Amino acid sequence: MARLLSSSSTLFSVLFHMGFIVLASNVKASTAFGFTNKTDRQALLAIKDQILEDPYRVLSSWNDSVHFCNWQGVICSHRHQRVTILHLSSKNLVGSISPHIGNLTFLRGIYLENNSFHGTIPPEIGQLSRLQQLWLNINSFQGEFPTNLTSCLNLRVINISENNLAGKIPSKLGSLSNLFNLSLFKNHFTGNIPPSLGYLSALRILDLNKNNLEGSIPFEFGQLLDLQILQLSNNNLSGVVPIPLYNISSIKFFVLASNQLHGSLPPDLGLTLPILEQFILGSNQLSGTIPPSLVNASRIVTIDIARNAFTGPVPVNLGSLLYLDWLNFEGNTLGTNQDNDLSFINSLVNCANLRSMLLSGNGFRGELPNSIGNLSTKLQQYKWNHPRGDWESH
Ligand SMILES: *[C@@H]1O[C@H](CO)[C@@H](O)[C@H](O)[C@H]1NC(C)=O
Ligand SMILES: *[C@@H]1O[C@H](CO)[C@@H](O)[C@H](O)[C@H]1NC(C)=O
Ligand SMILES: *[C@@H]1O[C@H](CO)[C@@H](O)[C@H](O)[C@H]1NC(C)=O
Ligand SMILES: *[C@@H]1O[C@H](CO)[C@@H](O)[C@H](O)[C@H]1NC(C)=O
Ligand SMILES: *[C@@H]1O[C@H](CO)[C@@H](O)[C@H](O)[C@H]1NC(C)=O
Ligand SMILES: *[C@@H]1O[C@H](CO)[C@@H](O)[C@H](O)[C@H]1NC(C)=O
Ligand SMILES: *[C@@H]1O[C@H](CO)[C@@H](O)[C@H](O)[C@H]1NC(C)=O
Ligand SMILES: *[C@@H]1O[C@H](CO)[C@@H](O)[C@H](O)[C@H]1NC(C)=O
Ligand SMILES: *[C@@H]1O[C@H](CO)[C@@H](O)[C@H](O)[C@H]1NC(C)=O
Ligand SMILES: *[C@@H]1O[C@H](CO)[C@@H](O)[C@H](O)[C@H]1NC(C)=O
Repeated sequence: MARLLSSSSTLFSVLFHMGFIVLASNVKASTAFGFTNKTDRQALLAIKDQILEDPYRVLSSWNDSVHFCNWQGVICSHRHQRVTILHLSSKNLVGSISPHIGNLTFLRGIYLENNSFHGTIPPEIGQLSRLQQLWLNINSFQGEFPTNLTSCLNLRVINISENNLAGKIPSKLGSLSNLFNLSLFKNHFTGNIPPSLGYLSALRILDLNKNNLEGSIPFEFGQLLDLQILQLSNNNLSGVVPIPLYNISSIKFFVLASNQLHGSLPPDLGLTLPILEQFILGSNQLSGTIPPSLVNASRIVTIDIARNAFTGPVPVNLGSLLYLDWLNFEGNTLGTNQDNDLSFINSLVNCANLRSMLLSGNGFRGELPNSIGNLSTKLQQYKWNHPRGDWESH
């Protein structure tokens, strides 16, 4: 303090430094007076430099009169005054991410989702060994998946969905053994799904919807014993669904629609997937019968097996699925050529939440049961093949 005063010749300068002291001591646990970790500050300024538009003026607080740990969207560790979180989601920011981000070596979380970032995801992110959460979803990032990310062994969540990323999903991703949630949906990824993803033993959510992936679903996925959400729809996956997948009892969302999958469903599906909620397999080439055990998965909300090649009867006690909201059997060859094909509708009167029942384009025969009038008052659309050949829709 004495040294500071003696070196300051004017009152203004003393006050300025006093002001700075107050600011700095507001920053908790600052160990040394006025100390700023220069590397972090420089990296943040380099990041700011590549942000071209900032309509809400979020980055105006990133200035010299405020300690960088108090800049908007920046959170520091108390002990080291190092940046641990960068939180700038939904700020309408336009720009690219500076490679300097790799110098923020204490970073645990990057939340930049829902902006207009473009360019590539800098490989320097691979230097962030403490990184646990990476949220870059809903932006315009291009280029390939940043393979260097596979060095960040503490990653729990990668969400880079809704971008313009292309190329293959790197096989090395399978080494992130702490990964809980992986969301790559709505990008342009091509090639096969790496079998190594089956080694992500902590995985809870795997969302690869809406890409251009091909090849088969890796058999190794049967090892994802804590998987809750599996979403692979709107790709070009072929082959059969590996049987061990139906044995992952934690699965709630089983979403494989709009691919080229074939094969049939195991008869005990509803027993091996007891907490299933979303069962969405529409627009594939699946065949065989609807397993009657489906009614044992009592939490089912959505059943969509439309536009496949399923045959045979519809389980008569579907109505024991009390949470059923959406039922789509359209475009199969269901039916038994007997007059009671539609008798399953009787039990659906129990489904108070039923909003949609789509049955057209099948081989159902027989009269519509009178119970059709007693279906849920929430029913908004229903379609079925009328015995006379035309069909009704509401
Ligand atoms: C620096 O940021 C602070 C906090 O947002 C703000 O009050 C101040 O006006 C800014 N200074 C400049 C020069 O932009
Ligand atoms: C400041 O950052 C550098 C470079 O990352 C690091 O080596 C150093 O330990 C940091 N200083 C403190 C006090 O955390
Ligand atoms: C994205 O950010 C805008 C504001 O910039 C906000 O209005 C919108 O709700 C956000 N969308 C999502 C999905 O978070
Ligand atoms: C920080 O990162 C940039 C780009 O990766 C690099 O050029 C620079 O030397 C690094 N170190 C410091 C101290 O800024
Ligand atoms: C990316 O990872 C490779 C292999 O680990 C490494 O050699 C390279 O330096 C990394 N690149 C950057 C920019 O960190
Ligand atoms: C993964 O996502 C789920 C659902 O959004 C969330 O509850 C869970 O906390 C996430 N896991 C981690 C490690 O963040
Ligand atoms: C990833 O972000 C999307 C929005 O782009 C969100 O809907 C989804 O739940 C997130 N996924 C995970 C695994 O957190
Ligand atoms: C999908 O894969 C099949 C072969 O399995 C191929 O013939 C077809 O061209 C692919 N379609 C697209 C859109 O990539
Ligand atoms: C499914 O799990 C049961 C019980 O853990 C086991 O006996 C059976 O072999 C498994 N089936 C497949 C196809 O993995
Ligand atoms: C499956 O559901 C049917 C019909 O509700 C019931 O009779 C049967 O006992 C259930 N099986 C198991 C193993 O819960």
